[in-house]
Amino acid sequence: MELASKDRPLRLGILLSGRGSNFLAIAESIRAGRLKGVEIAVVISNVADAGGISAAKELGLPTAVFVSQGRKRREHDADVIACLQTHRVNLVCLAGYMRLLSPEFIAAFPNRILNIHPALLPAFPGLDAQQQAFDYGVKVAGCTVHFVDEHLDHGAIIAQRTVPVLESDDAHSLAERILVEEHIAYSEAIARVASGEFELRGRRFAKRGL
Ligand code: GRF
Repeated sequence: MELASKDRPLRLGILLSGRGSNFLAIAESIRAGRLKGVEIAVVISNVADAGGISAAKELGLPTAVFVSQGRKRREHDADVIACLQTHRVNLVCLAGYMRLLSPEFIAAFPNRILNIHPALLPAFPGLDAQQQAFDYGVKVAGCTVHFVDEHLDHGAIIAQRTVPVLESDDAHSLAERILVEEHIAYSEAIARVASGEFELRGRRFAKRGL
C-alpha cells in the first residue's frame, strides 16, 4: 500500500460530527512537526453546528458541511466523496464521525479510511464503548485506530493504547482517561501509514520485510 512519498504528501480528509478533540490533536501533531509529509486537506461534518468545524475554521483549514439527517446514505456519501476528491484527499480519518459509511464510500477509498474507537477492539464495538467496558468490569481499557471495512469497528488494527480501570472510576472518568490516549494513538497510526514502512498482511498491519 503506497500512500506517501516525498513529492506526494498524505492529504487528510477529516470527518467529524462533534467537538473534534481528536481532529485537534492531529492538527497539533502536524503543527508541532510530529507528522512529517502529512497535511489536512479538508474537515467535513455531517452536523451543521459541530464544534470541530468552528475549530477548523479558526485554524484556517478548508471546511465543508453536508447535513446527513433525512438523507439517503448513498446520496449523502456521494457529496462527501466528491468533496474529498476535490480536495485531493488520499487518507480519510473518521474522528468522532457518528455515521456509518456506505459500501460505495468504502470502495472509493480502499484501505484509505481510518477510524478511532474508544475500546480495545475486538472487545466492545458499537456505541457507548467506554460504558460497555466499564459495565463489563474490565481492568484494562483503551482505544483502537483501525482501517475501516464494510463491518462496524472491524478493519485491521493500526494502533492501540491502554489505560487501567481504577477502583474510583465511573464510565465518565474512564472515558476521559481513554480520550487522552486517543489523542496520542491517532497520530501514531497516521505516522505508521505515512511512513510507508508497514503493509497489510491479512488482518495484520505489520512492518515490511519482517
Ligand atoms: C471519541 O471518543 C472517539 O473515539 C469516538 O467519538 C469520540 C469523538 O470525540 N469515536 P472528539 O469529537 O474527537 O472529541
